[in-house]
Amino acid sequence: MPVFRLFFVCGLCLCLTEAAIGQANPPARSEPARSLSVPASPLPSGPKITFNSVHVEGPYVAMTFDDGPSATLTPKLLDLLAARRMRATFFIVGENAAEYPEIVRRAAREGHEIANHSWSHPNLSKMSDEGVRRELQKTDDAITAAIGVRPTLLRPPYGSITARQKSWINEVFGYRIIIWDVDPLDWKRPGSGVVTSRIVNETKPGSIILAHDIHPATVEAMPATFDQLEARGLKFVTVSELLAMARPSPPGPDATAAPVARPAAPPVQPPASAPAAPVVSSPAGPN
Ligand code: NI
Repeated sequence: MPVFRLFFVCGLCLCLTEAAIGQANPPARSEPARSLSVPASPLPSGPKITFNSVHVEGPYVAMTFDDGPSATLTPKLLDLLAARRMRATFFIVGENAAEYPEIVRRAAREGHEIANHSWSHPNLSKMSDEGVRRELQKTDDAITAAIGVRPTLLRPPYGSITARQKSWINEVFGYRIIIWDVDPLDWKRPGSGVVTSRIVNETKPGSIILAHDIHPATVEAMPATFDQLEARGLKFVTVSELLAMARPSPPGPDATAAPVARPAAPPVQPPASAPAAPVVSSPAGPN
């Protein structure tokens, strides 16, 4: 058939040409030219960029506090953490960091990790690349100006970010993208007792716990929350420390939780309906 022969000859020419320049798979020429747009998903395989939780072999968890610093609540929280020799991770809003650099400095000096939560808390997934780059760079600069060290982690506001954005942000800024697996929905102001019970019930080794140091009830909830998590034998580390402990997950569904050693505490299992962390989501609230 002439059409096939023509196709074969064209294909052969293409093969030879593309082989000569090192490309292995000539595309079928019956289709229009390959789209140059970057697919939204899936991510190319490579080092893991995004973390909702971490598979660890010890009883370690990371407390994270978003949206601060707050002029009054963050120092109060820092006092609580210092009294317990606990370290946490603060996902800082750049505007606030620029306003209260001394609080950011204090947090860093006391061993906490400072990370990027954008400049003005927009939904990054709906922004242009240039707009996102500005949001992240300004905050990176404000944190660096305050503490002399560049952040290495990003939490997108609302957990909302596309796979394509994650990839280029990781390339350009070197950030790993940190979501969470425990969300007490403290921004809905359910009261400190509910914040504590939600966190305690959902947390397991390797958890990344979301909270906000801009709500009074959240900070009020922390002493009981810390007490109860510690009673289960859990230990607090920064997110970067938790990531450094990451081990490959064992096969099988949800087989990631190592048992907590402390036998005196009643076992608290995460609910079957533990919410999946939104990676590309609509904003449900001020995360
Ligand atoms: Ni937030």
